[in-house]
Amino acid sequence: MSSGPDLDADGNVVFGRDDLDIVDPDSYLDGFPHATFKRLRDDDPVSWWPEHDGGKGFWAVTRYEDLLYVSQHVELFSSAQGITLEEIEGDDFDLRRNMLEYDPPEHTRYRRLVSKPFSRREVYTYEDGIRGLARDVVLEATEVGEHFDYTELIAKQLPMRMLGRMLGVPDSDGDWLVKQGDALLGNLDPEMTDYPVGFTDTDQFKHIPFRSPAALELYEYAERQAELRRGCPSNDLISALLSPTIDGECLTDLQFKNLFVLMISAGNDTTRYTMAAGLKALAERPDQFHELRQACIDRDDDVVDRAVEEVLRWGSVTMHFRRTATQDVEMHGKLIKKGDKVLEWFSSANYDERQFPDPFRFDIHRTPNDHVAFNLRSPHLCLGAQLARMELKLLFQELLPRVASVQLAGPVERLRSNFICGMKRLPVQVRWA
Ligand code: HEM
Repeated sequence: MSSGPDLDADGNVVFGRDDLDIVDPDSYLDGFPHATFKRLRDDDPVSWWPEHDGGKGFWAVTRYEDLLYVSQHVELFSSAQGITLEEIEGDDFDLRRNMLEYDPPEHTRYRRLVSKPFSRREVYTYEDGIRGLARDVVLEATEVGEHFDYTELIAKQLPMRMLGRMLGVPDSDGDWLVKQGDALLGNLDPEMTDYPVGFTDTDQFKHIPFRSPAALELYEYAERQAELRRGCPSNDLISALLSPTIDGECLTDLQFKNLFVLMISAGNDTTRYTMAAGLKALAERPDQFHELRQACIDRDDDVVDRAVEEVLRWGSVTMHFRRTATQDVEMHGKLIKKGDKVLEWFSSANYDERQFPDPFRFDIHRTPNDHVAFNLRSPHLCLGAQLARMELKLLFQELLPRVASVQLAGPVERLRSNFICGMKRLPVQVRWA
């Protein structure tokens, strides 16, 4: 699933039921429950939700302005007790903690250590190599024929190969890294992991990210990669992350390993599912497909850049992130108590009518488009935002000129998750140009 709503046979938006349980991962199997979130935005913008698995429940913040308030008031809403629904405390939490799970000033220091290689300037030094990869993946797809699963054949192949190039790991490790990344973010979906949380007992893994043994394998892999570079750094992202800053500070081994796991999870599925969301939206709207295709042929960067932003808003792949109240706070007449979990619903805020005129219209020209897909106005703004944007842009530029037309060619299959919106399968029929 992407957060983008489906269309019925007449091209009208399908909103679905307005009374779904937003905790239950099954509620997302038919697409993001837009009607339910619209009702919440309108009638109950800060609502309380009990959990069924022993979790203590949470507040759901669903409007755009409220989400910005929570993101920006880090003194009231902390990330330092976890950023997913899962409640992990003490040593277990310390062992698996990644940069998302610190507050300023620790987070600011951490971020300073790692942000340079992710700047737009640095990311664009990889442009030629990554464009070549995008072209290869598209050309491989042309060999397969005109009817294929877009997620599998294109969207799944690119992000990890691209990230792998930046990290400086062998291309041949790509498939293995994709598998591990899938097991992490797909940890609620039995198809993605042998240890789905809620289906098997994952208590023994509670001290590792996503309660997933895949993270242990990635720890080992990260250690080996770090070892290869110690004393002999190369010109790649892993070497850059291991090097001390000009102040002589550097990541600890555990911080490096947890950041590595975070990159493999955050840099894989999110971009893949955004790519799939974009293609589905275009396949359903031939006029916008042709306009964007022409912009890619003409190298009209302004149009392509705006389209990428709309795809990010529309896809809203990371549905929520959590904060924890550090003191009692009142919002919309509700008393959020110190220690309560608060979920920021990005996929809801990105469709908030109060911020986005006609939010259920996909519009490659949408301006302004101050979406929150990357939580850009938070201290935790996505570190990989420039990379993800570049990947989406290069893919459009390499793919669309080679596709004369595209349409959906079968049912979409969605990830079972209340955290990540993803289309596991997106069958399409293309006519190659
Ligand atoms: C379309 C793709 C992506 C989306 C929608 C996305 C979304 C997000 C969001 C919403 C946050 C903020 C979390 C919070 O507020 O707690 C975030 C943070 C982060 N993202 Fe992304 N992300 C994407 C791609 C990437 C990529 C490609 C990478 C790296 C390779 C990456 C690495 C990170 C990291 C390390 C953070 C933590 C930043 C911090 O805590 O300061 N992301 N991402």
